Amino acid sequence: MLVLGLEASCDETACAIVRDDGCVLADVIHTQTSLHAPHGGVVPEVASRDHVRQVSRVVENALAAAAISLNDIDAIAVTARPGLLGALLVGVEFAKGLSLATGKPLVGVDHLHGHLSASALFANGTACHVAPPFPHVALVASGGHTALYLVKGPNASQVEALGATRDDAAGECFDKVAKVMGLGYPGGPAVDRWAERGDADKCPLAFPRDRIEGFDFSFSGLKTRVAAHIETHGRPESEEALAHLCAGVRSAIVRTLVGKTLAAADETHVGAVTVGGGVAANRFLRSELARGAEARALMCFLPARFACTDNGAMIAWAGLQRLLAGERDDLSLDASTTSILPSVTRKGRGRRS
Ligand code: KG4
Ligand code: ZN
Repeated sequence: MLVLGLEASCDETACAIVRDDGCVLADVIHTQTSLHAPHGGVVPEVASRDHVRQVSRVVENALAAAAISLNDIDAIAVTARPGLLGALLVGVEFAKGLSLATGKPLVGVDHLHGHLSASALFANGTACHVAPPFPHVALVASGGHTALYLVKGPNASQVEALGATRDDAAGECFDKVAKVMGLGYPGGPAVDRWAERGDADKCPLAFPRDRIEGFDFSFSGLKTRVAAHIETHGRPESEEALAHLCAGVRSAIVRTLVGKTLAAADETHVGAVTVGGGVAANRFLRSELARGAEARALMCFLPARFACTDNGAMIAWAGLQRLLAGERDDLSLDASTTSILPSVTRKGRGRRS
């Protein structure tokens, strides 16, 4: 069975062809980074327009890369939520057109469930991969969301929320800190690169341990601390000082994410942890999570770095899980800005009562 996965929820237009054994036959990603960089963040209207411009070319290129035609596809999966509404609509309406033209089934996918599912895809897309056993604890850390889940099965209905950020997402925190340091957009990869050359112990700022109870997160304090430091002392003058500051920021964010993920695994007595979302591409997060998991004899599933940021393969794979469960959507499929995954946290207010 071959599933075409289409992703256009934010600033990437992506299409992948994934086989039901987890092999990724093609994975084409057009990124809009250079369009948004001058604005220091994603401009929704610019994003929608570029998705319209790129979507047919990206789909055609994915089919060509997989050396198949549209008729060889068995189903079409598309990100339907959450994300920028105008961007989502481009993908959803295009996918409906493909489904109508080919008569192939259509499934809408939750973007966060896509990130959760990415750890089941093989590292280099050329061979099959051992999927994480259920139940497992999954951290999703992206530019728009940061949450911990207990994943009891391959479908979104089998995902339980353990906690989430009460304010900024981890990726958003990386992006905002990078902006005040003048490192451009997106900030996460830039901070990660500089941090590789720095030493967190030489960072001029001390970041206190996260004092939030349970599995919720808060990152806005860290961002404010860095902004206040830069306002008082100016941007780091030397490359060395910049590297140390970036290492300190990265270490503080990673320490919180990894600490809570491992604590959640302890509390739920699972045998495996996974991570997904753009921040999962962070080198220090990957090594620290792997190290912590090994110390606890936990299995640790890290998607390939390219599979952490938005892509069509994770959407195809999550869509396949819906198809295997006998679920389908029809042409009334609508885009939405909210996730179907449960949430135990309200922004700014902690746990729901
Ligand atoms: O999952 P994603 O591609 O899009 C969303 O669903 O938001 O995540 C993008 C986010 C951005 O905030 C970006 O700065 C962050 O992931 N990111 C990273 C790294 N690569 C991407 N953050 C830290 N370290 C990285 N290497
Ligand atoms: Zn994402």
